[in-house]
Amino acid sequence: MNTAIQNAETALTDTVAAAFAPTPDPRLRQLMQSLVRHLHAFVADVEPTEAEWMAAIRFLTETGQICDGAVRQEFILLSDTLGVSMLVDAINHRKPGQATESTVFGPFYMAGMPERETGENMALTPGEPALVHGYVRDTEGRPLAGAVLDVWQTAANGMYSGQDSAQPHGNLRGRYRSGADGAFAIRTILPVSYPIPGDGPVGRMMAATGRHIFRPAHLHFMIDAPGHQRLVTHLFNAEDPYLASDAVFGVKPSLVLQYSRQGADSPLAKRFGFDSDFHEGLYDFVLPRA
Ligand code: BEZ
Ligand code: FE
Repeated sequence: MNTAIQNAETALTDTVAAAFAPTPDPRLRQLMQSLVRHLHAFVADVEPTEAEWMAAIRFLTETGQICDGAVRQEFILLSDTLGVSMLVDAINHRKPGQATESTVFGPFYMAGMPERETGENMALTPGEPALVHGYVRDTEGRPLAGAVLDVWQTAANGMYSGQDSAQPHGNLRGRYRSGADGAFAIRTILPVSYPIPGDGPVGRMMAATGRHIFRPAHLHFMIDAPGHQRLVTHLFNAEDPYLASDAVFGVKPSLVLQYSRQGADSPLAKRFGFDSDFHEGLYDFVLPRA
């Protein structure tokens, strides 16, 4: 490209960035000027045709149009599938080594789900019976009593209650509390892998780029203990075929849980009321101070 033309294009970037110089809020000024520079650098790099730029605008427009006020949030899905959600998570949760790692929040959390007793079954639909239990502790190994574990997972059909009108209210969701010794216990079904919504612009982007839309099986947690940092994370089933290719890049090795088989006549089965074999997952959560 001739240097005069290139200089004019670079000058345009400088002019636009300078237009934001009067922004009174310094953080907003930094965000806008950096956005302009990176966006211009991207456009300068790929040199889109006008048709391509219009296609990009159409894509973003449709991403907004498919969102609803409830569970469909295509912009979160876009951020997730581009790995941006995990990058924001990593930047905001640089924790001490012993602390449990966080992962992506996802769009399917629902607030105000039922309070559940220790060991209560949150599965109102069928699946392979499972028990996930362990302790919540601080980074010095002391038990955290009264921690609230807000949990959610899909039914065996791969859909969350709220997303699937056939499921009863509160199915596979609930708020458990750790006991005086920090112990918690969740009776549920074994999580399954499932596709993220594929019928919108993000699904089309994934198909066009040869990516699959599956997430490895997982149980979501949001854990709050007074005076400690909130933990948003998942526990993934070991041996899931999608562990190495999660559509939203959320897997961390420390969050992979190996379930073991327990018999219907085991002491745990008696204690938690299982009348058949079940999968037991043992995991301890460690929360740093706020
Ligand atoms: C989820 O695990 O619920 C989820 C996370 C990111 C995108 C879609 C779903
Ligand atoms: Fe999920």
